[in-house]
Amino acid sequence: MCPMSKINRTFEIKPVAADDRERARIILTEEWGSARVVSRGKIYQADMLPGFMAMTDNVPVGLVTFNIEAGSCEIVTLNSRRERIGIGAALIEAVRRTASEAGCRRLWLITTNDNTHALRFYQRFGFVIKAVHANAVAESRKLKPEIPILGYDNIPIRDEIELELILQTLAE
Ligand SMILES: CC(C)(COP(=O)(O)OP(=O)(O)OC[C@H]1O[C@@H](n2cnc3c(N)ncnc32)[C@H](O)[C@@H]1OP(=O)(O)O)[C@@H](O)C(=O)NCCC(=O)NCCS
Repeated sequence: MCPMSKINRTFEIKPVAADDRERARIILTEEWGSARVVSRGKIYQADMLPGFMAMTDNVPVGLVTFNIEAGSCEIVTLNSRRERIGIGAALIEAVRRTASEAGCRRLWLITTNDNTHALRFYQRFGFVIKAVHANAVAESRKLKPEIPILGYDNIPIRDEIELELILQTLAE
């Protein structure tokens, strides 16, 4: 895991520890309606996943959770509560490094069609769109009915957009 880092900035990144789980559950519930997250037809209890927290004065200001499986690492959730100071990028970088160390070849995630800000953010980080799963949110709503109909900018939430970043393993 990435050691806590503090490089001349106003937040620190630390791995989510067992006693952070309750704080993670609260953040996930506030941000996503529940700690249950659906991605490609699979339900995650995201507060129980590994992750990293961004901290300022002992207050969580960002959270990323991820799942490593079969040589791939999925970013399951990402939230920044103090935007545009580098927290999102620092959290993704911590996961990217962990995934590389674990030998993963692929870092990937799902976002939805309404989230144009996230699509911009991830592509600027280096992710590419791998697939558009049209109308897949209808299936996800069967597993998580609390997914709203309208998302950012009142755009109907409909499609799951899969983004990926191919990783170099540390041996390369
Ligand atoms: C997407 C999200 C995680 C980005 O988090 P963030 O902390 O704002 O991310 P960063 O600060 O690293 O980068 C955001 C922008 O700020 C810029 N930035 C970073 N540090 C900066 C600084 N010190 N001064 C000015 N700009 C800065 C970045 O260059 C980036 O700009 P860009 O959009 O033009 O590329 C955040 O907006 C969020 O939580 N959104 C809601 C949840 C969500 O959509 N999650 C992802 C979907 S799964």
